Amino acid sequence: MSDAPTTGPLIARNRLWHPPAYTPGYKTSVTRAPSRALVAMGSTLSEETGPAFGRDMLGELDNNLILNFTGQPAIGERIIVHGRVLDETARPVPGVLVEIWQANAGGRYRHKKDGYTAPLDPNFGGCGRTVTNAEGRYEFLTIRPGAYPWPNGVNDWRPMHIHVSVFGSGFGQRLITQMYFEGDPLIKRCPIVNTIPDPAAIDRLVAPLDMGMAIPMDCLAYRFDIVLRGRRQTHFENRREGM
Ligand SMILES: [Fe+2]
Repeated sequence: MSDAPTTGPLIARNRLWHPPAYTPGYKTSVTRAPSRALVAMGSTLSEETGPAFGRDMLGELDNNLILNFTGQPAIGERIIVHGRVLDETARPVPGVLVEIWQANAGGRYRHKKDGYTAPLDPNFGGCGRTVTNAEGRYEFLTIRPGAYPWPNGVNDWRPMHIHVSVFGSGFGQRLITQMYFEGDPLIKRCPIVNTIPDPAAIDRLVAPLDMGMAIPMDCLAYRFDIVLRGRRQTHFENRREGM
């Protein structure tokens, strides 16, 4: 979309939609949360403009987590994760970097601090990236990540999830979030999910099964649309040239 804005003032974040910083049910938020009131500041040029990413920086398998670690296929249930990156005025955001990282099919990350019992998959690295096309679309091929336990409450588990980072067309649109899978019974039990006050906001993080994009005898698909901060728009009178 050539008419997608690349600059302009950003609309303020709705902090009631995002989880509050201090949420004792999610233990580590207690020490991370600011202890003083936040200061409101308008966005400046450095937030309104941002990094430009081209598709030429991508490797051929960067959005294929099944093959991109060793070239041999990772173990797990094959899935497509796809969607669009839009801003909150529903305009597609083309040319933005979408990065994901996730546990393997057993719920284990390839990270030195992950000591979970589940084994590493020698052919799964767990990271991928892509750049949205002209319509704001992105797509990954990956495996369904496993749920995993974490030290928070006595027996807390993370639902199956994929971590997502999006650089918008301005640094002030940067979004880091998580995608969950439709029907996972662990979603409503998750202390991190439950820091989000509005159930409608939780629903936006749950990707529905999308059989329209599934490939028969190959993989299922999930659709996850990502909405970034919008920009204020200038309204022009709608008149024809020469009138
Ligand atoms: Fe995680």
